[in-house]
Amino acid sequence: NLIITIAGGGSTYTPGIISALLSNSSKFPITEIRLYDIDQKRNEDMKLIINQLLIDKDRQDMKLIVTEKPEEAFTNVDFVFSQIRVGGLAMRELDEKIPLKYDLVGQETCGLGGFAYGLRSISGILEIVGYVQQYAPNAWILNYTNPESIISEAIRRKYPDANMINVCDMTISLEETIASNFGYNRKNWIPTYYGLNHYGWYSKIYDTSLKRDVMPEIIDKLRQVNMDVAEFNEGDQYWAKTYQLMSAMVKYFPEALPNNYLEYYWFSDVMVENDDKNFTRANMVMEGREANTRKMAEQIRNGETEDILHFNFGEHGNYIVDIAVAILNDEPKRFMVITPNKGSIPNLREDAVVEVPAYIGATGVEQLALHPINDFHKGMMEAQVAAEKLLVDAFFEHSYDKALQAFTLNQTVPSARAAKQVLDDMMVANKDYWPEL
Ligand code: G6P
Ligand code: MN
Repeated sequence: NLIITIAGGGSTYTPGIISALLSNSSKFPITEIRLYDIDQKRNEDMKLIINQLLIDKDRQDMKLIVTEKPEEAFTNVDFVFSQIRVGGLAMRELDEKIPLKYDLVGQETCGLGGFAYGLRSISGILEIVGYVQQYAPNAWILNYTNPESIISEAIRRKYPDANMINVCDMTISLEETIASNFGYNRKNWIPTYYGLNHYGWYSKIYDTSLKRDVMPEIIDKLRQVNMDVAEFNEGDQYWAKTYQLMSAMVKYFPEALPNNYLEYYWFSDVMVENDDKNFTRANMVMEGREANTRKMAEQIRNGETEDILHFNFGEHGNYIVDIAVAILNDEPKRFMVITPNKGSIPNLREDAVVEVPAYIGATGVEQLALHPINDFHKGMMEAQVAAEKLLVDAFFEHSYDKALQAFTLNQTVPSARAAKQVLDDMMVANKDYWPEL
């Protein structure tokens, strides 16, 4: 028996994960899927969709359990995939809109929106880890709940020995889009990368087929591209704006390829200018992915099951499943993971939560030892690490003072006054979710 539980089962990402799992059934032969969610309606919707997916793939032998009860969800489970979103998209909308009101970056992981979301997420994720320790202490938890640096820092403190791996699909998505637009094959790449989650740099991208480091030429190509949206592959239009800023970033700082999320830190003012303060990414997701999922469930309820399962799954599900496969079969493979530094970046504090390459197999994460990093990146990282640590202090110590220090130190924030205004508004908006400060 191989049992998996998806925590946050009602999420629109669930079909992608399950699809990826089913296509790997020779190496990952699951027999039972459990969807755990505190929102019964969303979970029931997902049950209809997954049930339909199983029929479609001729996998009606699979046991499917949908539950709001932790004991039923986690007892004897082998792998937990955690994708909870505390407060749902309604709270994400506030994470984005409250900072924007004060002309600060409004984004769910970067900036103060990410910090607000962090203070909400920690208790949700600690609860899940607690359930797993209680009901299935040997299970692996693969987490991609955001904001990951902050969550990983909280886990590092409360459950340092948990069988938990924190991963983000951003590096792989960026690699995929760059490779496909510039004529490479990502499958041949061995990237070396360092930073914090959504905040880092490539130092090398070795291409095993071309037998060279292709990062310098990619930086050149990015610098030269005349950023016309029409130049991009179809389906990549969403990335077009990102490319414009990627190009700008490597024109300013050509020595390393940055994670695209650095646009929020280096060009915070530009990002704010480009945003619509009344219609943010949360609104887009609610009207798109979220609405489509609800509609799909409704159609199944009404018996219209023909041709409804068209999802664009992306790389996300595959990435997570590849990790689970590597653990289960002890076939160590290289991934980017979010993990305590422990010397990986030799000139950065050991207890910083970083994002670095690691091999993952049956014993979990075995990260690489990297070269020392330069002062520019190190300075940026140290400030942001301190901000994240202060935020997690604020959570555990119920400290308003620490929260204000964290908000002020966040690398998208130019003024303590603005930090305080956002913090005070966020406290009101998050009164049902945050610890009392
Ligand atoms: C990427 C990031 C995730 C983030 C997601 C947002 O996948 O790695 O951390 O949650 O983008 O996507 P969305 O479509 O919800 O804005
Ligand atoms: Mn991410």
